[in-house]
Amino acid sequence: ASETSLNADIEDGVRRRDFINIAAVSFAGVGAATVVLPLVNQMNPSADVLALSSTEIDISAIQPGQAIKTSWRKQPVFVRNLVPAEIEAAKKVPLSDLRDPQTIDERTKPGKENWLITLGVCTHLGCVPLGAAEGEPRGDFGGYFCPCHGSHYDTAARIRKGPAPKNLEVPPYDFTSDTVVTIG
Ligand code: FES
Repeated sequence: ASETSLNADIEDGVRRRDFINIAAVSFAGVGAATVVLPLVNQMNPSADVLALSSTEIDISAIQPGQAIKTSWRKQPVFVRNLVPAEIEAAKKVPLSDLRDPQTIDERTKPGKENWLITLGVCTHLGCVPLGAAEGEPRGDFGGYFCPCHGSHYDTAARIRKGPAPKNLEVPPYDFTSDTVVTIG
């Protein structure tokens, strides 16, 4: 390289370094508060934050055969009161027929297998399946039907047909009483 272009390179390098230094200083000043603090909060959630993230649902009005749509952490959640025939239908399916093999017992609580609680988020691309509201189609297997690309879930919300790879997810939950479920 000629001497002139070498000098130009050096000057360029100095300017670049100055820019990087200025950027680093403004990040430290302004960025630290806005970026680092939320991260720390996320890593150490206080008891208050955890309590806020759970949702209590009164299930006393959900009749056998009905489902409702509620939400938890901004995601839709389906709470369904299965009738005995729906539980039986789910029990009859051999696990070898299932894409994501799980028994209905693994997806419900002992002694409460009529309560099916799942996220209302299709495991294909995240649409909200139909079937929780009165009159909505429940698909070929009587559970939920995703209208986006035609995934059919059975009465244990297990994927049976269509592109979705997994069953509707069961969130963490517990029965606080016979009529209240706490999700989260
Ligand atoms: Fe449900 Fe594609 S998002 S089938």
